[in-house]
Amino acid sequence: MCGIVGAVAERSITAVLVEGLKRLEYRGYDSAGVALLDDQGVLQRRRRVGKVSELETALSSEPLPGRLGIAHTRWATHGAPSERNAHPHFSGSDLAVVHNGIIENHEQLREQLKGLGYVFSSDTDTEVIVHLLDHKLKSQPDLTAALKEAVKELHGAYGLAVISAKQPDRLLAARSGSPLVIGLGLGENFLASDQLALRQVTDRFMYLEEGDIAEIRRDSVQVWAADGQPVVRETVQYHEGAEAADKGAYRHFMLKEIHEQPKVVQRTLEGRLGSDHVLVQAFGPLAAELFAKVRNVQIVACGTSYHAGMVARYWLEELAGIPCQVEVASEFRYRKVVVQPDTLFVSISQSGETADTLAALRNGKELGYLASLAICNVGISSLVRESDLCLLTLAGPEIGVASTKAFTTQLVALMLLTLSLGQVRGTLDKALEAELVDELRRLPTRLGEALAMDSVVDKISELFAEKHHSLFLGRGAQYPVAMEGALKLKEISYIHAEAYPAGELKHGPLALVDSDMPVVTVAPNNELLEKLKSNLQEVRARGGELIVFADEQAGMRNGEGTHVVNMPHIHDALAPILYTIPLQLLSYYVAVLKGTDVDQPRNLAKSVTVE
Ligand code: F6R
Repeated sequence: MCGIVGAVAERSITAVLVEGLKRLEYRGYDSAGVALLDDQGVLQRRRRVGKVSELETALSSEPLPGRLGIAHTRWATHGAPSERNAHPHFSGSDLAVVHNGIIENHEQLREQLKGLGYVFSSDTDTEVIVHLLDHKLKSQPDLTAALKEAVKELHGAYGLAVISAKQPDRLLAARSGSPLVIGLGLGENFLASDQLALRQVTDRFMYLEEGDIAEIRRDSVQVWAADGQPVVRETVQYHEGAEAADKGAYRHFMLKEIHEQPKVVQRTLEGRLGSDHVLVQAFGPLAAELFAKVRNVQIVACGTSYHAGMVARYWLEELAGIPCQVEVASEFRYRKVVVQPDTLFVSISQSGETADTLAALRNGKELGYLASLAICNVGISSLVRESDLCLLTLAGPEIGVASTKAFTTQLVALMLLTLSLGQVRGTLDKALEAELVDELRRLPTRLGEALAMDSVVDKISELFAEKHHSLFLGRGAQYPVAMEGALKLKEISYIHAEAYPAGELKHGPLALVDSDMPVVTVAPNNELLEKLKSNLQEVRARGGELIVFADEQAGMRNGEGTHVVNMPHIHDALAPILYTIPLQLLSYYVAVLKGTDVDQPRNLAKSVTVE
């Protein structure tokens, strides 16, 4: 959450900073600001509440050119979204800081700094950083050395960018718990919290590691590691995915990302399937040896990624015969956990920077798990770097805040994990593995067929125009799919949605059902179908309106108050992936109907890097 961009160049970099912020806006968008050193050597700032476009308008009416600058788009943690709380924060008129993360000892530092005569002009934790740095500069006038001193007193998470009018030759960065990347140019260099912000200016990147401090000048970059020693971080050339920050012909990133699913699922499968089996080495050279020892699996994740883990639990137990537990990371990290012997710890995350998931992994490593595996969409993320094994989902950058293609590629990766564990441990029937490998190859085509129902789902969405509540039902591995469908609907359309295993309906939620409560159901053609049909009768008998996404062979028909959308037939094991598609489309079209901000829903942010 929150986004940082910085630059030091010979040309004016205001437009680069603003464009970078726009590309990061999906991470936080309640206020934005920029600080630049103008040609007279004066540090100037513009800040605006709301989206980056508000800042852009302010900058076009009152231009602010500069060759050294930092910028920020905020998702409020400490202090309401307001201009005074927007970054950059200043100490005096010479020193500016932008910050991602949370400083946990900010209250104590604030009291100390007030005692030293500093006056605070915001409610943020960030402002303590800039005053603390200013204080350090009094005894250590070199900005880089003073920053090294200041960060020693910060507890919590931070990605920082710092500039000073007194030392205009440099842009400083510090990373602890919040990612930062340096973009390398020719005679100019850049900084951002995500490389996506800088692809407009460079394709060469240097990722900072935990505890790093960097001094970025126009023609050089110097990095010091956590132990204070100079260190050279690898330069990575980035070729692919530059198109990701562009919506193309689509009205929203979310719709574009929904429609990308056949392609990215295909990419996630590429090079990982043999003729009739999964290539276990896709998980790394150590995987086969490690997987042979696995007797249990513990999955930890948040939000949509947690739902992917819930689906995987059905797969791991049913197909690979491995006991599996799944827990949301924010609970797992603070609970006393009893670790079963030979348990593989699996974390799932789109961003690989989610604070709770990372903390759970770090706790897990202390608890004696057999090994850790990250299923992640960002290869250079903290989660991947800190895990023993990883399998990347190759969804490409996801810009829409509501996760779509990341979820389906996570499911694909988790199916590969299930088949690999079953294969190595000899608990999965070889013929079934071959059948599922075949089905996986066909999956992108099936997803394309499901996406072709786009306009049918658009029409169905009209049923939600006046509704305030809804229920989502599923049985077996479709229950987490229903949970994901409900999460999508509530986060982008703001309609209250609850998911239940269909069999639970009569144990309470049926009391809510009436004609104002649409009930959405996913009904593949499996052994639970007849039971599900009875559950749906219970709804109809109470006047509830049913929207059923059903296998074309399930024999379900439209009727009064029952709207059936036929889905292409698919192997039951892969049905959770296919049935996710219409639920994503449904939430999208309902949100469009409601006129909400689909890609940047209120109160949310992409990549939750704070607790
Ligand atoms: C919902 C959504 C969130 C994320 C959650 C975890 O659409 O995107 O629920 O899934 O914040 O994020 P990652 O997967 O980056 O760890």
